[in-house]
Amino acid sequence: MEIVFITSNKGKVEEAQKYFAPLGIKIIQKKIEYPEIQAEELEDVVEFALNWLKDKLDKPFFIDDSGLFIEALDGFPGVYSAYVFKTLGNEGILKLMEGVENRKAYFKSVIGYYDGEMHIFKGIVKGRIGYEKRGSLGFGFDPIFIPEGFDKTFAEMTTEEKNKISHRGRALATFSKWLKENLI
Ligand code: IMP
Repeated sequence: MEIVFITSNKGKVEEAQKYFAPLGIKIIQKKIEYPEIQAEELEDVVEFALNWLKDKLDKPFFIDDSGLFIEALDGFPGVYSAYVFKTLGNEGILKLMEGVENRKAYFKSVIGYYDGEMHIFKGIVKGRIGYEKRGSLGFGFDPIFIPEGFDKTFAEMTTEEKNKISHRGRALATFSKWLKENLI
């Protein structure tokens, strides 16, 4: 079976392939620009995009969208994470968090799969925002995010270590479990 992953990120495809290869599912990467609406929830962004894309593909396909939600900032940057990372960056977030005691935050990932019907899978990793950037691995907000139960940031973890507990890893695990139970 083949499933299309609509993304421009090759790393994401490689990560997903690890979950699907044991199920005999091949992922085909397709780069298609689709609209990302301004909404408060990742689920709404993903559902709108699935609806927009669904008539443009003749194979089952999925997309994913993630974000960092900081409690003391009322969930900011949330759905705006990509834009905020490009503009404020980690330094900007650390500045916004200066003097803030509540460091609680979580990463959330939402996968939208379309096979004639819409299916949504989610993954969350709770943690906290550090007081400085640490580590050089990974991407995005990794250097300032310390997952629950650890004393190091995502950027101080190997890809393998991070993927086991990450929001994306968890969403992919739920998605692949569903595929295994429902399709094969
Ligand atoms: P995307 O929807 O997965 O591309 O994520 C949107 C933005 O959220 C990215 O541009 C990153 O800034 C941030 N982000 C998502 N996942 C991660 C992660 O695992 N580590 C660090 N930053 C992330």
